[in-house]
Amino acid sequence: MGLPPLASGPHGPDTLRPLLDTVLDALRTGTAARGGPLPAGGPDAVTAKVTKAAGELLPDHGDPDALHTLVTALAEGAADPAHPLCAAHLHGPPLAVATAADLAASALNPSLDSWDQAPAASALEALLTHALARETGATDALVTTGGTESNHLAVLLARETHGAGLRLLHGANAHHSVPRAAWLAGLPEPVAVPAPAGTLDPAALDEALTRIPGPHLVIATAGTTDAGLIDPLPEIAGRCAAHGARLHVDAAYGGGLLFSDRHRPKLTGLEAADTVALDLHKLGWQPIAAGLLTVTDPDDLAALHHHADYLNADDDTDAGLPDLLGRSPRTSRRPDILKIAVTLKTLGRGGLGALVDEVCAHAERFAALIDTHPAFELHAPPTISTVLFRPAHATDTTVAAVRRTLLTTGTAVLGRARADDRLWLKATLLNPHTQPGDLAALLTHVESALEGHTPR
Ligand SMILES: Cc1ncc(COP(=O)(O)O)c(C=O)c1O
Repeated sequence: MGLPPLASGPHGPDTLRPLLDTVLDALRTGTAARGGPLPAGGPDAVTAKVTKAAGELLPDHGDPDALHTLVTALAEGAADPAHPLCAAHLHGPPLAVATAADLAASALNPSLDSWDQAPAASALEALLTHALARETGATDALVTTGGTESNHLAVLLARETHGAGLRLLHGANAHHSVPRAAWLAGLPEPVAVPAPAGTLDPAALDEALTRIPGPHLVIATAGTTDAGLIDPLPEIAGRCAAHGARLHVDAAYGGGLLFSDRHRPKLTGLEAADTVALDLHKLGWQPIAAGLLTVTDPDDLAALHHHADYLNADDDTDAGLPDLLGRSPRTSRRPDILKIAVTLKTLGRGGLGALVDEVCAHAERFAALIDTHPAFELHAPPTISTVLFRPAHATDTTVAAVRRTLLTTGTAVLGRARADDRLWLKATLLNPHTQPGDLAALLTHVESALEGHTPR
């Protein structure tokens, strides 16, 4: 056997083409073998199948069928967000055009830690980050691996501006990566401000800002993980301004509403934030990873400046080679901006807004279906595309067991969330292709699973 072919270079496209045929065939075969939103049989059955397909992973002599075998196994054992009954998490189905663009990113393999590894990709990244920053009223943006890294970076930048005595205050509804960010940044224990109705209570925030000595960083959420709720941003921004507190908004989920004329007003107040976490692998139909952190004061980014002679020597920078090292705490970095830029340009604001409107409308339709169904209880009308519901009169134990039954039979993927001290099933609707009949089917499956858990 000769040397294995490369993905880029003059022969790259010709050598990739038959391999892509293999991948696409394996995706089709694996998806058909699965049949539903996730594989039946639970973890043991899936592990057994994957183990069998993997065989020996580092054999003495290679296996030319490995690509087909392993892609088939992965597709067969996937929780497929493109299946309308796969609706648990902020785990969306990527657009075909974004995935195709991501193939080019993998083939060309630019690395965004120095210009000599990514001449065009770094120029495109600068254009895209500025365009997306403008959407939130900010001046610049960094590319991250998602909401978690954006939140971590926001806390780090705030600490660099205000010192290690910075006190972090977040709603009790904040994503778990927020208190973790305080831990990573070596800050004092953060303060969880009550969020009794699922959103941060501005009066309680005011009380905490008055009681706890600053400097303060307040973290609000636009699109909570559990219920898709949006904190009252204008009121929170007002309290922050009154107390001289810095504001970060975690809009990892809700940020996608910016593309929709109908839903954008829900994010009023976002422009007052010092930093905003966006994440287009949630409400943006991108393959993971597609995170951003927008920054209002570009001076905040000075804290990330870093020197490594092989990547950003002063004389290279003086001679005009862009210094990319200060754009991230990471070194090697994929051009995740390519798929995002291709998506934005292909669909335009109108096309993306229509997708947002569609999934929000699905959530409203699903909520209405639940509300009129005698066997179910709706938690609240949806704000974005998350719907919490539960079988009427079921115990929390039953709700949890019903969810696991759906998972292990491979029937449906629903999430779980605690609200008002009760356990709820969570449907996070991110698939614009979902049909009304799919939503009705979801409820029918829950009812059937419930039968197996109801004492007769
Ligand atoms: C509100 C919120 N912030 C941050 C994150 C973390 O995002 P990621 O998983 O992309 O790091 C999530 C994930 O669901 C989220 O819901």
